[in-house]
Amino acid sequence: MVPEAIMSVVPHAGNGKITVPELLQRKTSSLNPNKIVCLTAYDYPTARLLDEAGVDVILVGDSLAMVVLGYDSTLPVTLDEMLHHARAVRRGTKRALVVADMPFGSYHSDTAESLRNAVRFVKEAGVEAVKVEGGERRLELIARLTEAEIPVMGHIGLTPQSVNALGGYRVQGKTTDGAEQLLRDARAVEAAGAFAVVLEAVPRELAAQITRELRIPTIGIGAGPDCDGQILVVHDLLGLTFDQTPKFARKYANVGEAISNAVRGYCEDVRNGSFPSDSESYHSGSSAKKDDPVKISIC
Ligand code: KIV
Repeated sequence: MVPEAIMSVVPHAGNGKITVPELLQRKTSSLNPNKIVCLTAYDYPTARLLDEAGVDVILVGDSLAMVVLGYDSTLPVTLDEMLHHARAVRRGTKRALVVADMPFGSYHSDTAESLRNAVRFVKEAGVEAVKVEGGERRLELIARLTEAEIPVMGHIGLTPQSVNALGGYRVQGKTTDGAEQLLRDARAVEAAGAFAVVLEAVPRELAAQITRELRIPTIGIGAGPDCDGQILVVHDLLGLTFDQTPKFARKYANVGEAISNAVRGYCEDVRNGSFPSDSESYHSGSSAKKDDPVKISIC
């Protein structure tokens, strides 16, 4: 259930499911606010909390390789691992549009195999769209997936799956040549049929120009405020990361510290014998309640 406060400010924030056509309409809608709010999620409870808070698009990002699985890049995560997380997110989401990242290697050989892999996300995980990284060189693939009725979100600028080719994680499109290439990439992604495009680590001015030029919504991450929507990695927003975060990743909470404090408290209580207390224990004999329920904490 979306809270009243959100329903009053977010267009279409009722129980109605967010759809691809609706996101396209937002681009031209005069409704204010009409920004598209996106976040990543990788598991059931996070997806459920995000969905109930009114997030429009939940991305099962391959960033999970780094923030959840502890790898130092997004490259190692497999298709089966992505499917496993996407299924959990799907179960936790009612209203938001669920998009899954196609992991590195799952769309880099032939188009037929890429299509089969994308179909697995729809059939086995129930996601509504997939995201692929790359601009001009993904034209044929995006067109093929779209033709097969699989909505595609593009992703250009800093594409983390290209880390080895790019030589690191750097802002893209800063030179004239780089900016022109990004414009060509954006046009190609739109022409191929993508319904939205993520712009990652791109100068604000260039992101604004791409946003003005495209008919499909742009979703920025480190691309300034003029995009049609914004996305962040949820662990960055929550303060649940171990490394330094980029400057665009505003931290809204310090969940890492909250977890640490809670667990330290538990360690202390177990060690000093104050956990569990008598009231947290079951009893035998005459004082035992007849139907002492054992509730396992699933909702
Ligand atoms: O994998 C991911 O989380 C992403 C977003 C940061 C756009 O691609």
